[in-house]
Amino acid sequence: MKFIHVFACVLLFLCIGNPFAAVSMQAQVLRNPNVEQKIDSLIANMTFDEKAGQLSQYSGGFNDNATDNPAKSHYEELIREGKVGSLLNVHGVKTTHDLQRIAVEGSRLKIPLLFGLDVIHGYKTIFPIPLAEASSWNPGMVERDERIAAREASADGVNWTFAPMVDIARDPRWGRITEGSGEDPYLGSVMAAARVRGFQGANFDSAVSILACAKHFAAYGAAEGGRDYNTVDISERTLREIYLPPFHAAVRAGAGTLMSSFNEIAGVPSSANHHLLTDILRGEWGFNGFVVSDWTAINELHVHGIAANDAESASLALNAGVDMAMEGGLYQEYLPALVKEGKIPETVVNEAVRRVLREKFRLGLFDDPYRFGSRAREKLETLSAPFLASARDAARQSIVLLKNDNNILPLKKTIKTLAVIGPLASDARDPLGSWSALGDTSNVVTALQGIQRAVSKETKILYARGCDIVGSSKDGFSEAIAVAKKSDAVILFAGEASSMSGEAASRSSLDLPGIQGELVKAVVAVGKPVVLVLMNGRPLSISWEAEHVPAIVETWFLGVQTGNAIADVLFGNYNPAGKLPVTFPRAVGQVPIYYNHKNTGRPGNDTVHYTSRYIDLPSSPLFPFGYGLSYTKFEYGNLRLSAEEISPTDSLTVSVDVNNAGTRDGEEVAQLYIRDEYGSVTRPVEELKGFKKIFLKAGATKTVSFTLTPESLSMLNIKMEKVVEPGTFKVFVGTNSVDVKEASFKVVER
Ligand code: GLC
Repeated sequence: MKFIHVFACVLLFLCIGNPFAAVSMQAQVLRNPNVEQKIDSLIANMTFDEKAGQLSQYSGGFNDNATDNPAKSHYEELIREGKVGSLLNVHGVKTTHDLQRIAVEGSRLKIPLLFGLDVIHGYKTIFPIPLAEASSWNPGMVERDERIAAREASADGVNWTFAPMVDIARDPRWGRITEGSGEDPYLGSVMAAARVRGFQGANFDSAVSILACAKHFAAYGAAEGGRDYNTVDISERTLREIYLPPFHAAVRAGAGTLMSSFNEIAGVPSSANHHLLTDILRGEWGFNGFVVSDWTAINELHVHGIAANDAESASLALNAGVDMAMEGGLYQEYLPALVKEGKIPETVVNEAVRRVLREKFRLGLFDDPYRFGSRAREKLETLSAPFLASARDAARQSIVLLKNDNNILPLKKTIKTLAVIGPLASDARDPLGSWSALGDTSNVVTALQGIQRAVSKETKILYARGCDIVGSSKDGFSEAIAVAKKSDAVILFAGEASSMSGEAASRSSLDLPGIQGELVKAVVAVGKPVVLVLMNGRPLSISWEAEHVPAIVETWFLGVQTGNAIADVLFGNYNPAGKLPVTFPRAVGQVPIYYNHKNTGRPGNDTVHYTSRYIDLPSSPLFPFGYGLSYTKFEYGNLRLSAEEISPTDSLTVSVDVNNAGTRDGEEVAQLYIRDEYGSVTRPVEELKGFKKIFLKAGATKTVSFTLTPESLSMLNIKMEKVVEPGTFKVFVGTNSVDVKEASFKVVER
């Protein structure tokens, strides 16, 4: 084997780490009593100011390539005075080591710093946005990708990431839907745990594992109107059954930190919410890491109207369970006085400091403050061929085939003349998506470049921009129409700018922005075969396109390997297997629309007037949760259950035969849903409880089995107790949440 292959194998194993390590990080720290003793003695020696310092994080904005930030010397002074627990947006081997040296050699107590950064879907090797990676339904791939992100970030001195973002999102107007894993608690939980394992590894023995931070705790995605930062007013039941499970999964996976969110929940802002941050997170879940606020979220308690002034905000937040203040400086400014005045028990401050110090011990920073940051590893690994191969693999698996009439796809690489149209085809910035850390456009393979590389030398590619992503100018239409007319087929790119999703980027419309919709119509009118390739950060209401364009491919924002992955799918090097992690509405007026909805007393029926529906739209979504096509065809049959009746403590095995009835090998995500037909409270018409991604050669059949456990069947009853209630359960298995085979069983008290 060539060296590169050996290196690649070693590196990829290292990326995934030792999957068999069973001991959770929490247990390791808890089993280390002398860490607690060391923390005791540190706390005993700390002044009020030094305690407040450990609970304070500031944004630096400087690194090895940008050192001219005037605030740098100010922060160096604060570090020397023991008034900084962590810096964010600071990276670089030299920069982090210089600052760490001030902390551990220049301050009184020599407590090392945490360096945090938003490493959401890659550090320099940028992977698909999380919503895209969720479309792969492949937690092993997601874990691998986050491991690579951790390797690159830690080599650059970063030891804490503000990820995974695990907010459930049922409203695609909300721009931050792009950062999460969609609308479902089960898929969201599986992905949350995978991301934490990727970042933190099996343990913190190597200086590759970085601290994870599950955010934004909690229910940030339930903002009314999908408008970022807006009011959240949901029931405790909805909070616990829909929005909390991915956070609980992250905690069980050993996440070292959580981030409290900006929003209120039913009148109480998360960053002042003792019920959320202490009763549930610590009392019920046993979390013993620490909570950092979102950016100035503590200062905003005054704006929410729950604190009369900054001192009260600081008191409310710390007493609720926010251990560290990100920016805003309120803990440093007010905690010493609040403790002296008895408004905050010193024990509460000490416990917060303990949690922060515990994570610093867990990271090994007291043993070796300089363990993070390695130019040698950075040179060897960052943007290396194996990492880029993983990015290409992830991008391919994230692509969802939405339509393929007459098998127009895959296109032939020897096609004579191919038109490539649209502003996003040649764009290198938008494929990086939002929160792209140190991603650089120079590392992006654009869609056009990928297509150019994939086709034969004889193929003539005609490119036309057609229009801009926003704006109303049709000046480019004539050129687009002209190249379409000369072509044998058209690949038409349309979608959003990456800035149209992410933080503070909610949209009131889900249509293609600007004049793109008209460009699509104009190109389709030419009459050549058209493949519409979407690049976007949220579901789009592409109703006209879904009816009139013969082939549609959802590519989201795929990161540095965008062009190669799109070409792999369009020309058949890879058979797409992505499935939607979020429902696509026909129009924004249908929102909120999600698959695991309640039945109501008059379930929507387009043929019955007095039912829950719109008179101007069908009740069904444009594309349902779990939907995605393949270049082959999978057929499900022989659904069988291991029993017709079980007790509330039994498990049940569900089996189904999946056949690849087509002519191409391919992957399929078999999905398992249940419906608890009658309960002490109403239950969703469907709930995802399992999925398996399988590979089937053409003509092959495989039996896929799932296990439904009491955990799978449990719910919160009318008294909010977690129970399995007797009664009939339906089981659905299939290729998406609609096209399913059905069976049923009973739970009976014995
Ligand atoms: C932002 C975001 C949060 C991010 C933090 C630090 O406001 O809400 O997701 O981690 O600030 O950049």
